Amino acid sequence: MKGKRFLVMLMVAGISLLFIVAAINAQEAGKGDIIEMKNTKAFAQHKQGIVMFTHKKHYDAKPNGYGIGCGDCHHDKDGKPLANLKAGDKVQSCFECHSKPDKPKKEQGMAEADWKKLNLSYYYGAIHENCINCHKTGGKGPVKCAECHPKPEGAAGAAK
Ligand code: HEC
Ligand code: HEC
Ligand code: HEC
Ligand code: HEC
Repeated sequence: MKGKRFLVMLMVAGISLLFIVAAINAQEAGKGDIIEMKNTKAFAQHKQGIVMFTHKKHYDAKPNGYGIGCGDCHHDKDGKPLANLKAGDKVQSCFECHSKPDKPKKEQGMAEADWKKLNLSYYYGAIHENCINCHKTGGKGPVKCAECHPKPEGAAGAAK
């Protein structure tokens, strides 16, 4: 009798475990689909609304996605596109290389090439350059601040 009850308990425990594992797997699959862009190392405080970046939608094939290659955004230490990246691969964070925090300042009379270089050394500059440049040149996707940074509710000084 005792042995049988123990067996049933073991089965119940086993089945519960299966459910838990399945739930964790589902969560893993959804990770990175939409990325909350909130880099607290680059910005001590977020003054703008947090950008919810539709990561998967950007790389999914058309017509469901925008059909953009991984290498259009992810590159190696020389800036060479990581064209062979696949879903599930690990990547370095942009901030590991574009590693200056906060916002760059353009000094008066600064040569355009120097400014471009300085701007890119900041996470702020690299991320805006990547996102906005493609939206601009492709004629598709948001280029205005408030189209990416949602207005915080009732807040003054929100993105225009
Ligand atoms: C294509 C989308 C996009 C557009 C357009 C855009 N941004 Fe951003 N912005 C981002 C992303 C992504 C980040 C990175 C946030 C992070 O990872 O923490 C960011 C970060 C920032 C930050 C630093 C974090 C904060 O909240 O203080 C500021 C300031 C900012 N943007 C201001 C602007 C302003 C001003 C404009 C318009 C001139 C603008 N952005 C346009 C996507 C965008
Ligand atoms: C339109 C630009 C863009 C495309 C296309 C793109 N990514 Fe990303 N990806 C990003 C950005 C931005 C981040 C956030 C990086 C950061 O936080 O520094 C990111 C993050 C990631 C992460 C980390 C996930 C997470 O949740 O933190 C992985 C893994 C990744 N990308 C893989 C890929 C793969 C594989 C592809 C192609 C199938 C791809 N990416 C296509 C821009 C892109
Ligand atoms: C392993 C280091 C490394 C990582 C990680 C990295 N970058 Fe870069 N990135 C570079 C280098 C090196 C260059 C070339 C710099 C130059 O041309 O002066 C570059 C160039 C760029 C440029 C300019 C490209 C051009 O054509 O002008 C942008 C924009 C950019 N990166 C954005 C990003 C974004 C967004 C991410 C994260 C999704 C990222 N980078 C991740 C090293 C890195
Ligand atoms: C190589 C090109 C490319 C890059 C890089 C890129 N986008 Fe986009 N983005 C697109 C295209 C194409 C669309 C679709 C526009 C349409 O169909 O109206 C889009 C649409 C969007 C939209 C509106 C629709 C949606 O899916 O939410 C947002 C917000 C957006 N992008 C944010 C970003 C951010 C943030 C980054 C940088 C981390 C980024 N994009 C980088 C090409 C790009």
